[in-house]
Amino acid sequence: MIKKKIPAKLPNHIGIILDGNGRWATRQGLPRNFGHREGVNAIVRTVEAARKFGIKRLSVFAFSTENWKRSDEEVEGIFDLLKEFFVKELDRMVKNEVKINFFGDLSRFKGELREILDKTVRATENNDAIVVNICLNYGGKQDIVQAVNKLIAEGKKEITEEDISNNLYSKGQPDLDFVIRTSGEQRISNFMIYQLAYAELYFPKILWPDFDEKALCEALIEYSKRKRRFGGY
Ligand code: IPE
Ligand code: IPE
Ligand code: MG
Repeated sequence: MIKKKIPAKLPNHIGIILDGNGRWATRQGLPRNFGHREGVNAIVRTVEAARKFGIKRLSVFAFSTENWKRSDEEVEGIFDLLKEFFVKELDRMVKNEVKINFFGDLSRFKGELREILDKTVRATENNDAIVVNICLNYGGKQDIVQAVNKLIAEGKKEITEEDISNNLYSKGQPDLDFVIRTSGEQRISNFMIYQLAYAELYFPKILWPDFDEKALCEALIEYSKRKRRFGGY
């Protein structure tokens, strides 16, 4: 039913800054990690809805280089949930032709979690219904720095915009067309700052754990009304 309302003009690449998990839990008198659990379910719903609507590429900000400032309990809770999620959902991702990439400094992740992340990438690498980039221990500034360091290691003395693009975690992928940040906060918080140079920004009030097919549909309608100029007219 919702599908009928999906506009013809869709973004090629959507970025999602999922925000509001903690507030969602606190409002119900629950510990913050309950919000993260519902947040993971919202990621599953959103990927499924995006695939159904014909979106080809999503980048999801799940854990930032700044999120280590949170309590050990919260951080461990988030990574336990991610472990559980990738083990539980792998078969479905394979069946639904979802290709998963991870953007960020993964060297921080060791042992079982790292094995699960690597296994997910390998098991989904040939899928092509939708590409989902999950940003983990990701920072937009760190992304640019690691790209420039690779170029320095290659011996480059002068670089172009393409050189940077080709060495970001998102190498080979188009820039973001549309960025959705839930919970009403109107900031970028170090998400893919190079790749969103010309993205349309959208800040719905909905908290991430409540995000669903209907909310994605509303976002796509909003995007279809935007006039992109890229410096022209
Ligand atoms: C987003 O929700 C999830 C992460 C940043 C890991 P928050 O945990 O930031 O939720 P609020 O902003 O405290 O409500
Ligand atoms: C941004 O959310 C990071 C992620 C969504 C992973 P935060 O909740 O960490 O951002 P700030 O601190 O409110 O800017
Ligand atoms: Mg937040």
